[in-house]
Amino acid sequence: MKIIPRESATALNSQEQKINWKYQFQQYGMAFTAAAILFVVLSLYLFYRRGYYDLYIANKVFAGVATVLLGVVILIGPGSRLFSFPDRYVQYRKELGIIAFLLALTHSIVSFFFLQDKFPVQKFLSTDWWPFVFGLIATAVLIAIFFISNDWAMMTLGRERWWRLQYWGVRLAFAFILFHVFIMKWSGWVKWYQVGGSKELAHPEWPGAGLLVGWFMVFVFFIRLAEFVSPRLGRVACYISAVVLPFIYIATFWWGRQFIE
Ligand code: HEM
Repeated sequence: MKIIPRESATALNSQEQKINWKYQFQQYGMAFTAAAILFVVLSLYLFYRRGYYDLYIANKVFAGVATVLLGVVILIGPGSRLFSFPDRYVQYRKELGIIAFLLALTHSIVSFFFLQDKFPVQKFLSTDWWPFVFGLIATAVLIAIFFISNDWAMMTLGRERWWRLQYWGVRLAFAFILFHVFIMKWSGWVKWYQVGGSKELAHPEWPGAGLLVGWFMVFVFFIRLAEFVSPRLGRVACYISAVVLPFIYIATFWWGRQFIE
């Protein structure tokens, strides 16, 4: 057995720690940059659509970015199994998931405590009851997987079980978010396609960010479902989505032009 002198072992440990910090910094830096870009793009879009920007708008952005990032986390898996280009992004899943969780938590807290003029508690307990419950369950599931997103939890639970909890946790949370958003927003989306947005908006002919995020969620669900049935179908679903989703976005904006006054 090779005995490592104490000083060398300490040096090795501190070097490992150094490398780990650098690694963590790079990982979170990359995920944070992706989230920040999405945040700015969505914020600018809503600012121009509404003509103003405040906490009410930022809250939509927290929610939208969190949802898109979770969708990306869910898609990276099948993406890397079906194609080779997403392989390099697999390593960022955990960091993207954690940033998505923090944004989702911020959205939940802001919606409940800081926008009471827009969303009074009575509304959550009456008309918005089910979206509220689904939002809360999604948040609870994300909190649970956040607390086991570390090496200690992985060792304690065992790699296999830990992986299954993470895998199903993210998918379950995404399903609850889907219910949360669709139940709450469905009638507003249908109305937008019928008559455009409210006349108070600077650009009522532009669809709401929630509608764009909603379409993205549909395709995440579609790809995952197809890949679950068979990898071949999953690949076909990816190709279909790469064409149909941009087409739907373009068609939606084109449709909105009739609402320009
Ligand atoms: C995992 C947690 C959650 C996620 C990812 C999420 C996501 C979303 C998304 C994408 C929207 C649509 C935003 C838009 O129309 O632009 C939304 C709307 C909303 N959510 Fe959540 N939500 C979560 C939890 C919650 C919770 C726990 C509450 C209540 C305390 C809540 C309250 C609301 C409200 C009030 C809206 C309407 C916002 C508006 O129209 O401006 N959400 N949510």
